[in-house]
Amino acid sequence: MQNFILAIDQGTTSSRAILFTLEGKPSFIAQQEFSQSYPDDGWVEHDPEEIWQSVVNSCKKVIAEAQISVSQIISIGITNQRETTLVWDKGTGKTIYPAIVWQDRRTSSLCDELSEDEELVTHLNNKTGLLLDPYFSATKIKWILDNVEGARKKAEAGKLAFGTIDTFLIWRLTKGRCHYTDATNASRTMLFDIHLQDWDQKLLQTFNIPQSMLPKVLNSADEFGKTDPLILGESIAIQGVAGDQQAALFGQTCFKSGMAKSTYGTGCFMVLNTGTKPLKSENRLLTTVAYRLNGETTYALEGSIFMAGATIQWLRDGLQLIKEASETESLAKMASPNNQVFLVPAFTGLGAPYWDPNARGAILGLTRDTGINEIVAAGLQSVCYQSKDLQKAMESDGARATNLRVDGGMVKNDWLMGFLADILGAEVDRPEITETTALGVAYLAGLQAGIYKSLDELSSQWRCERTFSPRFSKQQRDKAYSLWQQAVNRIRCD
Ligand code: G3P
Repeated sequence: MQNFILAIDQGTTSSRAILFTLEGKPSFIAQQEFSQSYPDDGWVEHDPEEIWQSVVNSCKKVIAEAQISVSQIISIGITNQRETTLVWDKGTGKTIYPAIVWQDRRTSSLCDELSEDEELVTHLNNKTGLLLDPYFSATKIKWILDNVEGARKKAEAGKLAFGTIDTFLIWRLTKGRCHYTDATNASRTMLFDIHLQDWDQKLLQTFNIPQSMLPKVLNSADEFGKTDPLILGESIAIQGVAGDQQAALFGQTCFKSGMAKSTYGTGCFMVLNTGTKPLKSENRLLTTVAYRLNGETTYALEGSIFMAGATIQWLRDGLQLIKEASETESLAKMASPNNQVFLVPAFTGLGAPYWDPNARGAILGLTRDTGINEIVAAGLQSVCYQSKDLQKAMESDGARATNLRVDGGMVKNDWLMGFLADILGAEVDRPEITETTALGVAYLAGLQAGIYKSLDELSSQWRCERTFSPRFSKQQRDKAYSLWQQAVNRIRCD
């Protein structure tokens, strides 16, 4: 009888359950989308019950489709949209407010106010590796405690629990027995000292958050509790947990310092392993926990850009230039070789390394012979140029990626991957298995369960499907990139 590891991937727009064979092959997948709610300008919320149901349904569905018995599942791994914040009553398990999603900007003015305190900003940056920004959980927790009636009093009486999505799912799956998170998720709260691997008292005081609300922080491969048998039919151990971008780094087996991955989904997250010492960025990148195994922390530098696949969605749904994202490859191939159109997708501002929330998008360099092909090509190229921005920022911080492993929905596009290699001037490796996020936590769970013995064993399972090598000369690359920089400078506000 074949055994499996069940990976739960709770993302921003859908929840997925994937059964991996012990050789790391994704065999069965079930997925359920859930609603997005935008109750006010810049607010983004999820219904925690809908998230919970979508996770349970996906798990049940994948088990039914695979026609396996639950006892064939050796271990569970959980990966999740990071930073998204939930607060619930420890007694009833009911959340007291919807999940405030990582994209939510409602605490911008609070962050602006706090940023006047230079000492605090320096402390926060040194301890957490992050920038003071509404993106992370801390100000979202504070907002809930300050705005939900009776919440602060209950929190101070030790009756409320905080968790990112991983913690919420662990709590629910274990019927309230386990209040845990892992070090990667903790590192995104803006409350966690990534050097001491503990909650930071000064930050808890600053944001007025009682420590009793916080989960215990475990390794990424650890004992996170056993599922209640009533949920999936039998009790299964939860043994791997990591935020989704860190999980993808792990699934890509980027275990050595200098190895990097880039995930091209709605946005793009480039994460570079920097080894066992955290590297402080001077270029507004984030220093974060890549994974923690047996108490040893590996760190990473991370750069995020908001619009990757979302730019192509806009070409499809906003401009209606294409019917399906897959058309972009053939259209871009037909674009004029002298195309000098630049699309700067700053629809919601610019992410790393600019962090310019007020910048807005533009299409520049239009001529009489510009057509759909050129605009589509510029949309794809914008993803590559932004990746170059991140690569440059990492290099200025003294961290050069030896090569780049890619994953996410967009990497199927060969034209895009070719241009990415051209503009980065680096080899781009596309793996056979692009379900790397879920694979990462399946690996973590498998390590804890003793299925895998070492990171070397996992590395040897990674297979390259295709390597894209740069075709541009240095001169061509520098020229194209300097034109992109000029285009970005035209739209920047700060
Ligand atoms: O930091 C946010 C990130 O974890 C969200 O990822 O893939 O759910 O959009 P995703």
